[in-house]
Amino acid sequence: MAARLHVNIDHVATIRKARGTKYPDPVHAAALVELAGADGITIHLREDRRHIQDRDLRLLRETVGLTLNLEMAATQEMVRIAYEVKPDIVTLVPERREERTTEGGLDLNVHRETIQRTVDVLRDAEIRVSLFVDPDLDQIRTAHKIRGEQIELCTGFYCEARGAKQRAAEVSKVIDAAKTASRLGLVVAAGHGLNYQNTAAVAQIPEIEEFNIGHAIIARALLVGMERAVREMVEIIRASGGTAGSRA
Ligand code: PXP
Repeated sequence: MAARLHVNIDHVATIRKARGTKYPDPVHAAALVELAGADGITIHLREDRRHIQDRDLRLLRETVGLTLNLEMAATQEMVRIAYEVKPDIVTLVPERREERTTEGGLDLNVHRETIQRTVDVLRDAEIRVSLFVDPDLDQIRTAHKIRGEQIELCTGFYCEARGAKQRAAEVSKVIDAAKTASRLGLVVAAGHGLNYQNTAAVAQIPEIEEFNIGHAIIARALLVGMERAVREMVEIIRASGGTAGSRA
């Protein structure tokens, strides 16, 4: 079975925010993503509310029939919101106000106590927790030690690599991290920076069960429509071989 595709629809809200209008509505976009055959909807509720709003999360919880993945920082405010709304998965990410988008994975060793506490609270609420980390074996081992069930490997370094040699080196870091995580019993997801040209190479890694892809899909949707943009990415992932996907 091919890996699952979760579509990050933050940028629909970015366009809405640009004009302070009610449209385009991420709730409408999610319905089209669902019809196009994706497996999940991902949104990032940021502390500064620069795109997705609290109302989007609540409405999406009510309307989305797919897996709903909430990306958030490990703060008290966000934990309270997740506890109330109960997304299917929370992906913990680092967050800095001045960044354009998430710039890399969590440092689980530096922030271990806070992350551990957050993982425990969310797991008690029966919310699956995914930890967004760089493809670094030390981070993977810490994710396992703090009872993470899932990791999302940051593919940003691979996507930014220039030239075949650097790209191959970055892919092999993702492969090693995915294999180590899988051996430790963690579900492996991946995402960040993936597009229609660079996804096939990582979609061949059998340990990766799930992809979170946003910018490239929403950008293509502007030109060809949401359904076609999502379908084309689903096809790339399916054609790449993929994973056992047994824990869907
Ligand atoms: N995964 C995580 C943890 C992210 O923060 C993001 C960006 O919000 C993505 C995946 C999707 O990245 P992109 O928009 O580059 O596809």
